[in-house]
Amino acid sequence: MKFQLALFVFGVLAFTTSQPVNDEDLTDVIEAEVEDDQLWEIPQIDGSFKWMTEQEAKDRTLKTELIEKAKWVVKHFSNKRRKVRFFLYTQRNPSKWQEIDMERPETLQRSNFNSSHPTRIFAHGWLGGVHAPQTIEIVDSHLANGRNENYNIIIADWSVWSMTVNYYLARLRTRKAGAKTAELIDWLHENTGMPFETLHVFGHSLGAHVAGFTGKQVTKGKIKTIIGLDPAMPLFRLKNPHNRLAETDAEYVETLHTNGLKLGFFNPIGKAAFYPNGGRKQPGCKRDYHGGCAHLLAPTYLAEAIAKGYGNSFYSIKCDSFEAMKKRQCSDFDEEIRMGDPENYKKAEGVYFLETYPFAPFGMGDRYIKERLGL
Ligand SMILES: *[C@@H]1O[C@H](CO)[C@@H](O)[C@H](O)[C@H]1NC(C)=O
Repeated sequence: MKFQLALFVFGVLAFTTSQPVNDEDLTDVIEAEVEDDQLWEIPQIDGSFKWMTEQEAKDRTLKTELIEKAKWVVKHFSNKRRKVRFFLYTQRNPSKWQEIDMERPETLQRSNFNSSHPTRIFAHGWLGGVHAPQTIEIVDSHLANGRNENYNIIIADWSVWSMTVNYYLARLRTRKAGAKTAELIDWLHENTGMPFETLHVFGHSLGAHVAGFTGKQVTKGKIKTIIGLDPAMPLFRLKNPHNRLAETDAEYVETLHTNGLKLGFFNPIGKAAFYPNGGRKQPGCKRDYHGGCAHLLAPTYLAEAIAKGYGNSFYSIKCDSFEAMKKRQCSDFDEEIRMGDPENYKKAEGVYFLETYPFAPFGMGDRYIKERLGL
């Protein structure tokens, strides 16, 4: 317990940009309805899982002494900045972000944001932030992309909300984090004419659902593409698409599944779903009991796809169904469809299987698939 508190305090101190966790923050999200008494394996801060119903998770959250202590810490050590902050990287500022603050329009005017360039927004997961390795991978892959394209890369940093030992609380905040991100998109569209046609939103784990809630709450247009990177499973229900990332949240929604049935969703929830190595375990991960390694590979795979641009070598084979994928009965090969490719919106639909190498570069290329299929 002491160790966990220390970790949390450290997290809070490291992110001194946070706003106090005021009562509104805690109570309005906790009023969320408990839907049923399904048992969930809820991730714990030490990487393990605890079996709990949503009601138990909620009760723990309300009772936990940690939250009280956390409130105290945040109150004493934070300033009054925003809960979701937006950090921009471009080719002109590849190593130092510029903050875009809707309350201070001059931050946009003075920035390198250029609406002629495609915009990419990334939402991190539980305990993540602008400095998390997965965030940096996604940023760097765009800066060194094989298409020689200039992007506006914006990190939706909701770490003030995601930095909690309590996964349940972080999960409840994904909708609000999405609302803020949707607000930013509408605002950028109005102020710079940023087209929706070239806007892609990516999210990892809980961030995949932040991306979904963003798509649901945008009002001035429809996001072109959302890519959900191993969308978090605990406390998200297949039967409730309004309460998670769903196929209708963008013109095209793609999902990558790397740790299905543990930290990640296993069922396809986008228009196209890619299952590297079957979507549950990854060959680069040894003794991955808690699934953290496989779960973190989803952003790594996407980063490789982006960095390689037209050389993206995550060729995939279409399966007739999710059931067929589980049995590896997949045989429909179209070399234009590759996991994470920005052109996928034109054709990709359904369930895809692929294998990867256990180390970078992970993509195996088309020769492997042709051999496998005897082409
Ligand atoms: C925005 O990008 C376009 C296309 O790359 C370029 O022609 C234009 O000069 C840029 N605008 C600014 C203000 O840099």
